[in-house]
Amino acid sequence: MATSSLLPASYVAAQSPGAAAARLAGGILGTLARGKSFDAAAWARLLELLWGDLTEDPLRQLCWSFSEAWPDYRPMHALNACRLALFLALAQGRSEPQAEALALAALLYDVGMWHPRLACVLHGGPLTEQERDALSRHSALGQEMLAAVAGLDPLAARLAREHHERPDGSGYPDSTPRNSHHEASSLVQLVDSFLGQVEPRPFRKARTPADAMGRLLLQSQRGHYDAAALRSLLMGVGLYPLGSVVRLSGGETALVRGVNPDDLKRPPLLLLTDAEGSPRERPLSIALADYPAQSVIDVQ
Ligand SMILES: [Fe+2]
Ligand SMILES: [Fe+2]
Repeated sequence: MATSSLLPASYVAAQSPGAAAARLAGGILGTLARGKSFDAAAWARLLELLWGDLTEDPLRQLCWSFSEAWPDYRPMHALNACRLALFLALAQGRSEPQAEALALAALLYDVGMWHPRLACVLHGGPLTEQERDALSRHSALGQEMLAAVAGLDPLAARLAREHHERPDGSGYPDSTPRNSHHEASSLVQLVDSFLGQVEPRPFRKARTPADAMGRLLLQSQRGHYDAAALRSLLMGVGLYPLGSVVRLSGGETALVRGVNPDDLKRPPLLLLTDAEGSPRERPLSIALADYPAQSVIDVQ
């Protein structure tokens, strides 16, 4: 049975406020790409939506795996990066102004993808060598675009340039090692890589959040990601990240609705079916930590 048919209506409906926020995000980025000034009023409205979501129910906000495949993925990608950065910055104990500055930098780091020169890479098919070359320049281009915006925190331009750098110097455009990157870059690099996997694209399916997290853990062991930043992502989003659908040893299917920092393998859940696999009329919230005989045996 498709997971979406098991989800409570309120979670499926969460796509709609997401779409409104993504339109705001797209408006801000599109305006900058046309060389106009930063739309501070739209950013204030977007922040209001994000804070509302965070206070209300983080899972609704973080259900990336259920987001639709938009023909133009850039607005939803920017929005997801922004809200995940805000969520993680707060979880790391940063102050609200610091968290908002990081969220804004995360909203804007891919602005180079909005430059007319990059329009050639958005067709969704396999890229030619020339198109790949253009793509590899989007982070440097983004830095130039943001550095030219009056009144914008310089952090945004810095993170735009560094969001595809890697701690081991294997990234681009500068291929410089970790000690030359801004301290917030390692988190933004992971946010971008995680979202790049769990978001659907017109040309490929999304990976499950758990699959994406597993790959990041492996890659971090090879030095591609900063271990402390990965720990922040793991503690913020979970080993079975928020929004993952899991099967329990007792037969139930459940949605991961939070993180249990004391035992990442036993998160809070929303039971979607009974032990026989029949959908529950009302999903039931449980803490898996309260059921020692039960365990997660499969992640979708
Ligand atoms: Fe990028
Ligand atoms: Fe990206």
